[in-house]
Amino acid sequence: MKTACIFDLDGVIVDTAKYHYLAWKRLANSLGFDFTEHDNEKLKGVSRIESLKLILRLGGKQLSAEEFEAALTRKNGWYLEYIQKIGPEEILPGAAEFLQSAKAKGMKVALGSASKNAVLILERIGLVNEFDAIVDGNKVSQAKPDPEVFLKAAQELAVDAEQCVVFEDAVAGVQAALNAKMAVVGIGEASVLHAAHTVLANFSGLSVDDVLARLPA
Ligand code: G6P
Ligand code: MG
Repeated sequence: MKTACIFDLDGVIVDTAKYHYLAWKRLANSLGFDFTEHDNEKLKGVSRIESLKLILRLGGKQLSAEEFEAALTRKNGWYLEYIQKIGPEEILPGAAEFLQSAKAKGMKVALGSASKNAVLILERIGLVNEFDAIVDGNKVSQAKPDPEVFLKAAQELAVDAEQCVVFEDAVAGVQAALNAKMAVVGIGEASVLHAAHTVLANFSGLSVDDVLARLPA
């Protein structure tokens, strides 16, 4: 029986993916190459450090350890600038309602995000007090597709992996949930997230029971 929901943040609860993209693109451009939306798909759910490694590989660029650190700081500064004005209006369609109905059904809810900015974002969108557990990029050492973030969330909720449903918009995140032996609902396009047990465009108009019915028992 499913008794817990674990939500990714970026691209599932809030539309921050576009700001991550803009900040990475700005960084790539400042290093002398371009970064497309197509390539950005590979960065969704991927930690800050792994993202920069991937971007540098795509651009055929090498940085010293100091330059690497400085690039991470610059990207995060731009990202923080972009998200300065976000508020509850950037919560993705139906996400807050879905979270509330899962809670009303007695399910536990956790956040499982690679982002080190997760709490700041949850505060801005007014959802920080809605979770029974928050596991973010400050609490994990392994990037998705490693299952660490979701296993930690289950541990904090005191539930087993098979009781959890993960909501993910990223290929790496779907794989992390599968690696954790959890049921996974992809949020986005089925053609991209085909490994998920089921895929929704967004949470709009869907009850928790509708979603649970689409998952393996
Ligand atoms: C999420 C996003 C990634 C981002 C990562 C780290 O998983 O999907 O695009 O790189 O978090 O976020 P941070 O806010 O710590 O840079
Ligand atoms: Mg995401």
